[in-house]
Amino acid sequence: MQLTPFVILLLTCGINGFFPSDWRERYFGNGGISHEAQTRSAYDALVGKYFEEITPITTNMIKARTAMAEANMEVDDDQTSSAKHFDGENFEGGQAILVQAKADVIRELFDGNGEAAQVALGKALHTLQDFYSHTNWVERGGFDINYDLGKAGVSLSPIGFGERTCDECGFGGIDRILIGCHDCANNTFGFNTLTSGYYAGEDRPLGGAPIPEYKCRHGGATDSALGAIAGAVYAEVFNDVPEGINKDSLNCFWSPHWFLHRQAVNLAIQSSIQYIEDIIAEGPLEDKERRLLFGVGTSLAFAIDTTGSMAGIIAGTRRQAIEIARSRLGTKDEPIDYIVAPFNDPYTGPVLRATNFSDFQANINSLYAAGGDDCPELAITGILDALAVMQGPSDLFVMTDANAKDYGLALRAIEVAFEKQIRIHVFKFDSNCDDGGSAAKRSLQKREDSVANRQYSALAGSTGGTYHSLPVSQVDTIGSLIEPLTNSETNTILKLSGTLNSTSSFPVPVDSRMTNITISLRAAAVSLNLTDPTGTPLNFSSPGVTLTAVTDGQFLTIQNPASGTWTLILTLLDPVLTPPFACDVSGVSPLHLSSFNFVTLRGRPGHKGFFALPTQPAFDHDVAAVAVLDGSFRTAVFDLRNTLANRVVNANMTPGSGAEGAPPTNSFYGEMRLANVSLYAYVEGLDDEGAPYQRVLPNVFQPIFSNTTDTGFNNTDIFAGRRNVTTTVTLPSTSLPTETKTGEPEYPGCPYPTEY
Ligand SMILES: *[C@@H]1O[C@H](CO)[C@@H](O)[C@H](O)[C@H]1NC(C)=O
Ligand SMILES: *[C@@H]1O[C@H](CO)[C@@H](O)[C@H](O)[C@H]1NC(C)=O
Ligand SMILES: *[C@@H]1O[C@H](CO)[C@@H](O)[C@H](O)[C@H]1NC(C)=O
Ligand SMILES: *[C@@H]1O[C@H](CO)[C@@H](O)[C@H](O)[C@H]1NC(C)=O
Ligand SMILES: *[C@@H]1O[C@H](CO)[C@@H](O)[C@H](O)[C@H]1NC(C)=O
Ligand SMILES: *[C@@H]1O[C@H](CO)[C@@H](O)[C@H](O)[C@H]1NC(C)=O
Ligand SMILES: *[C@@H]1O[C@H](CO)[C@@H](O)[C@H](O)[C@H]1NC(C)=O
Ligand SMILES: *[C@@H]1O[C@H](CO)[C@@H](O)[C@H](O)[C@H]1NC(C)=O
Ligand SMILES: *[C@@H]1O[C@H](CO)[C@@H](O)[C@H](O)[C@H]1NC(C)=O
Ligand SMILES: *[C@@H]1O[C@H](CO)[C@@H](O)[C@H](O)[C@H]1NC(C)=O
Repeated sequence: MQLTPFVILLLTCGINGFFPSDWRERYFGNGGISHEAQTRSAYDALVGKYFEEITPITTNMIKARTAMAEANMEVDDDQTSSAKHFDGENFEGGQAILVQAKADVIRELFDGNGEAAQVALGKALHTLQDFYSHTNWVERGGFDINYDLGKAGVSLSPIGFGERTCDECGFGGIDRILIGCHDCANNTFGFNTLTSGYYAGEDRPLGGAPIPEYKCRHGGATDSALGAIAGAVYAEVFNDVPEGINKDSLNCFWSPHWFLHRQAVNLAIQSSIQYIEDIIAEGPLEDKERRLLFGVGTSLAFAIDTTGSMAGIIAGTRRQAIEIARSRLGTKDEPIDYIVAPFNDPYTGPVLRATNFSDFQANINSLYAAGGDDCPELAITGILDALAVMQGPSDLFVMTDANAKDYGLALRAIEVAFEKQIRIHVFKFDSNCDDGGSAAKRSLQKREDSVANRQYSALAGSTGGTYHSLPVSQVDTIGSLIEPLTNSETNTILKLSGTLNSTSSFPVPVDSRMTNITISLRAAAVSLNLTDPTGTPLNFSSPGVTLTAVTDGQFLTIQNPASGTWTLILTLLDPVLTPPFACDVSGVSPLHLSSFNFVTLRGRPGHKGFFALPTQPAFDHDVAAVAVLDGSFRTAVFDLRNTLANRVVNANMTPGSGAEGAPPTNSFYGEMRLANVSLYAYVEGLDDEGAPYQRVLPNVFQPIFSNTTDTGFNNTDIFAGRRNVTTTVTLPSTSLPTETKTGEPEYPGCPYPTEY
């Protein structure tokens, strides 16, 4: 057997079950491979099999993977259910969860509910993964996974409540005594029936009976009638760690069978893969349902005004939407969710939802314009209807020709959009209702409506979306705007809005793999110029350069731009006018800022992981954030910038070490103090070829005043003294044998740490 030397930190985690997440409470947080990491490994393995061509995985796929991992982590909020953790010999309970979840996942997928399916799967994976840590499957010689898990009608163990399953642990050597751990390597020796550990405070034994001395315990410092934290303090002070069998971590203070942790993790991952394969086979899940489960594909969502004057606009939108959807068929960007939310006056809806192109086509073709007496319409209600069924991160496109009479609901829409990471883009077309807008705009001979301008630019600006006010004749230009926004390879490089000075310039880093850049400028009477990395002004007539002008702006696309830092120059044509402007620069490249979330610690004390905040972050106390960058890069520096891309907050992000049980190197954590201004999260650095890159998360943060001192990531290190103690141990290698063992597993003797 090959032996692997490994340094462990003592007393670094408090657990019942594998740790929930990669980034964790600082005082408990090291020493094992988390549920999040296990779920990610299973997801990545299956995506590698079914969607091999997609690398790196898209933002929507990362969202799907995160939904599974978070649902898995959240199971730890319930620490009394033995079934959810395969504790207390509750094999029927655990098996019932796994059997039921399969049916739930399949049903949700056939109903078109990808996110609900991901959540149901993630929860089940927690129970499944805990099986390998909390039972004696590994100790009994389980070098292969248990194929019976999740099989309806199959009983996992005949164990009886009267049957002895564990002996007492030994004292161990002097080093072990010093750190309070027992030597539990042989406590399950000779007991061959499948059993699992009893955990203080759970619903087994039945009726609140005491845990018999002849049964295995979960064990570790938190398995105490005093509760997790007090128990850990007791174990610390009295140097006496409860005996047991759990393999949750690499640390004997938490896991009496810590030396089998890696083997348990390997099996948990393999078993997670098998469980998902079983679901795919039993469904059976075809390509469409698999894409829904793994989040492969985009969503296409429209909220459309169907009042009388909209006929021409509906027809144009229909043409553009169908064209985009058709061009995506069979690609990884084929929508998995098509939403059409009509709004009229006095009614809105019903929302038309489809999971395939032909249904979508039928839905959008069924819209016709009629009714709606007065000018303002129920636009925000229509938007809320669409948001209610949408999944983020994605974009909602709103088509109307009037302002909103229900603007009082806008705050609600902004909140929902923030939580789901949905950007709202409003296309307001000119109509007879318009008041003509500002004096400045009247001078540009454009009809528009000052109320609509104010409402929709606020709505779009607050969600990271865009607002366009266009003549009806330009309805066919919306395709060129929607296209890049619904393409999963598109990354936002720069996001600007505000008021322009006479001339302003902004750096635009173009990385080595960027194939197309698109600049979308929304401002009248502003000229747009660009210089390449050598400082040469862009020749707009050169091949590969396309400039499209509409009444309220310009779109520039450049194919195969040279890598290096370009400069965007915006100049006011009439210095007297200072119209509001907005400009988005995006580029097609496989290097993605996949997420940037402000986070909070959640879960049972001593067992908490970081979860994304459902609300806007606070500016009146420190906040923590976790970001993920996918693709090849050398360096990454994160900061938060205002709407003119000026740096406001240094995000202080540091990458994971990538070490076993630690967050991966493309995952970043930072603590910072925000400011009371709208902020965008940026990352910049060098890609793997040394070219500069920059990315911005297109969703805007509007920090709030929270009036609390609770940061949500209290990292006070209550075990600071212990954490300094490190020791070197030699762990047995846990690489799995490749052959599949069948028949009754034989007890192989405990792999035993030979050196401390
Ligand atoms: C554990 O049991 C095995 C098999 O009987 C024995 O070889 C080994 O010495 C025992 N280890 C301890 C620490 O008692
Ligand atoms: C589209 O989806 C609907 C509802 O799920 C289904 O009835 C229909 O057969 C599907 N059409 C195609 C072409 O797949
Ligand atoms: C305009 O000038 C002000 C003051 O110098 C500056 O703070 C602001 O960032 C400038 N705006 C742009 C778009 O450059
Ligand atoms: C780049 O832009 C051109 C012109 O708009 C388009 O035809 C092409 O598909 C784009 N390439 C990618 C990878 O988006
Ligand atoms: C910017 O581009 C415009 C055309 O859009 C051109 O007329 C102008 O001279 C350019 N300005 C600079 C400073 O290059
Ligand atoms: C811009 O490119 C066009 C087409 O390639 C060329 O005819 C023209 O001379 C170029 N203009 C300048 C100023 O280089
Ligand atoms: C935050 O900024 C807004 C807008 O500038 C202002 O109205 C509000 O008073 C500020 N809040 C605090 C607590 O500073
Ligand atoms: C902040 O909280 C304190 C105590 O609850 C309260 O007295 C105070 O009014 C709050 N301040 C604001 C601005 O809400
Ligand atoms: C942070 O944790 C320490 C130690 O557990 C505790 O004393 C303190 O009250 C906690 N603070 C907050 C705000 O939860
Ligand atoms: C543990 O290490 C920290 C930082 O290295 C140090 O400040 C602290 O005094 C040490 N505690 C003990 C008990 O050694």
